[in-house]
Amino acid sequence: MKLLKEKIVNEGKVLSDTVLKVDSFLNHQIDPLLMKEIGEEFANRFSDQVITKILTIESSGIAPATMLGLTIGAPVVFARKRKSLTLSGNLFSATVHSFTKNETNEISVSKDFLTPEDNVLIIDDFLANGEAVKGLLDIVEQSGAQMIGVGIVIEKGFQKGGAALREQGIRVESLANIKSMSNGNVEFY
Ligand code: G4P
Ligand code: NA
Ligand code: NA
Repeated sequence: MKLLKEKIVNEGKVLSDTVLKVDSFLNHQIDPLLMKEIGEEFANRFSDQVITKILTIESSGIAPATMLGLTIGAPVVFARKRKSLTLSGNLFSATVHSFTKNETNEISVSKDFLTPEDNVLIIDDFLANGEAVKGLLDIVEQSGAQMIGVGIVIEKGFQKGGAALREQGIRVESLANIKSMSNGNVEFY
């Protein structure tokens, strides 16, 4: 996606060989026009599928997921990183370990919002090691819903998440796939 790649090149900050900061349009401030195009691009990529539910994880997956939901007219569910005490008996839960942040979170989704009748598309802002997506896949499986695939705004293709998911036969569509970030230069596939 051309506009997204331009944004990454012009506004992204390469913090190290593996970490890209995109706080000006995705992770802190949000660019609504870019986000609208991102939603439309996901809709195009998965236009061969009937999506009844979009599943993401708080917080940075919510904006792109919502713009897709607006485009195709499907509701968006975001997994929560902290358990709501009032819901605890009624949750699908999974454990997500972040290598980047070296922390483990339990994520959960209310059983009210994912059912075996749903066709689910997973959306997230970044794909690195794939741990967040694995947790979301676990939750979809628990719910008995059909899994359509995974849409990612920025994949870091030099990390192992995308390859591992594709090897499992999961359809992964990323709008920008970064090959390397060495010497502060972002190179795409
Ligand atoms: P993984 O799910 O692919 O294994 O990724 P990882 O645990 O490494 O990522 C942990 C958090 O860091 C996630 O956000 C993820 O989106 C984000 N992340 C990973 N790599 C990068 C990167 O290069 N740049 C930026 N900006 N973020 C990255 P989170 O903790 O869930 O936070 P939130 O932003 O969604 O609230
Ligand atoms: Na995220
Ligand atoms: Na993030």
